[in-house]
Amino acid sequence: MPDRKLSARFPADLPAWQALKTHYRDEMKARSLSDLFRRSQQRFTGYSLEAGELFLDYSKNFLNSKTRKLLLRLATEAGVPAAIAAMFAGEAINVTEGRPALHVALRSRLSDQVALDIPGIADTWKTLEQMTQFVCGLQEGRIRGRGGRRLTEIVNIGIGGSDLGSVMASRALRHYWQPGMSFHSVSNVDGTQLADLTEQLDAEATLFVICSKTFTTEETMSNANAARQWITGCLGAAAISEHFAAASTNQAAMDRFGINPQYRFGFHDWVGGRYSIWSAVGLSLALVIGMQRFSEFLAGARRMDQHFRAAPFEENMPTLLALIAIWNNNFLGAESQAILPYDNRLERLPAFLQQLHMESSGKRVRIDGRTVKAKTGSIIWGEPGSNAQHSFYQLLHQGTRLVPVDFILPVKSSGASQDLQDLAVAHCVAQSEALMDGYTEAQAITELVESGLTINEAKALAPHKAHPGNRPSNTILFERLTPETLGQLIALYEHKVFVEGVIWGINSFDQFGVELGKRLADSLSSAVAGEGAYGGDNDSTTGLLARIKRLKQN
Ligand code: F6P
Repeated sequence: MPDRKLSARFPADLPAWQALKTHYRDEMKARSLSDLFRRSQQRFTGYSLEAGELFLDYSKNFLNSKTRKLLLRLATEAGVPAAIAAMFAGEAINVTEGRPALHVALRSRLSDQVALDIPGIADTWKTLEQMTQFVCGLQEGRIRGRGGRRLTEIVNIGIGGSDLGSVMASRALRHYWQPGMSFHSVSNVDGTQLADLTEQLDAEATLFVICSKTFTTEETMSNANAARQWITGCLGAAAISEHFAAASTNQAAMDRFGINPQYRFGFHDWVGGRYSIWSAVGLSLALVIGMQRFSEFLAGARRMDQHFRAAPFEENMPTLLALIAIWNNNFLGAESQAILPYDNRLERLPAFLQQLHMESSGKRVRIDGRTVKAKTGSIIWGEPGSNAQHSFYQLLHQGTRLVPVDFILPVKSSGASQDLQDLAVAHCVAQSEALMDGYTEAQAITELVESGLTINEAKALAPHKAHPGNRPSNTILFERLTPETLGQLIALYEHKVFVEGVIWGINSFDQFGVELGKRLADSLSSAVAGEGAYGGDNDSTTGLLARIKRLKQN
């Protein structure tokens, strides 16, 4: 089953990995970031690059030209060039599920020749055409709800990759919402989201878009069934065919649910859930921002694909980002990575990137089934700045952990005042400088004495005031948050995650780790509902179930 070409050697057995270990121990461990800047006059120019409309400053990382050379060699030794070619050729790089990973095809043009011989590839353009007809029909008022009202309230029902992409992108692209349109989402199993939403929604103006690759996911199907009941209660059962659309690979299940054949949008199993925003799963987003903007979003991603496919590694942004992350994780010992966007409209970007990284790279065995002998996956977390500056930045600046940061920085406002965005930009740049340069005890003592403290008082307080600095970060800068730049940004991270996976030798495209919990929940649900007994022998579960039963009876 596994393609041995992609998994021949453990990363730690590669000569470049060994050389990087020695290089870190003998040359880099004792270096500070300020030291690296002092040694190289042109560091900013030498450690930054452009791809499409994105600019990456990676100068504030613990690397010099030798580190970079060794990291680039690592990518080659690990087989990244062959892996990139294999992905675009449509080889079955998702080896455990025996299929290609072809999100890149969804944003390609015919002339790009992406995996044209793979069954279903041509459906990409047919589906886009079908989406265009539907989106325009809705916007122009040709497609309406049961009572003849315009459908303006778009509710995406999905979870994981069938939710996070459209939620993230629709919030990011709020500026581009078509007049009168609104985006809502329902994902979680407990039912409160739908309950809260239906309190304020007008059923006659609501279109539910059920997104589920499988159309069997418990959370999505229970929310979809509850939404169907609500529509039936408000408008009658006949309204289902006008108030529900769906994106899925499972035609039969869409049929059983009662989805109008004209309102069904298909895709293929070679689209992974967390990579599916480019497929029919993007329908809710397209309905809100319009098809022209959705096409620009796809075009942005395509631009990054072309860069990733063609640029030499030293100028290849996704590859460099992956190599820096590997360096921070596997050599410098970082346990997590913070993603900090400086535009509040990117508030769900960290959550989206969390799934992308952690579902793709949270693996402990390699493609060939052997245990990975290196730490895989990054723990991704984050929030928009400057909000986050007032919550967890304390730990970033003065805590004991190394947390590399990606700052995401649009320079122009995505729809509010430029003066305020200027403030956000200033905060972002200041934070990356503060993380790197820090603030010494000596500086603190001088300032404290100047402010009137005695020298002894100043010396006692200075250790608390000092920032050690020397904390690495990348800054990804671009002019404005647009469908194109967002597409580039998301594709950048998709490819970064892919390169990391190739170097670790894991399959980035399966997610078996989510199955066990789902199975157990299935077997426990009747016990929780009081309709059956728990069949297992876990003492803690038995105890919890007994207590749950008592609490339910109160
Ligand atoms: O939680 C695992 C997962 O399979 C994700 O990878 C996926 O995005 C999500 O569930 C939803 O799956 P589906 O689109 O089939 O409902």
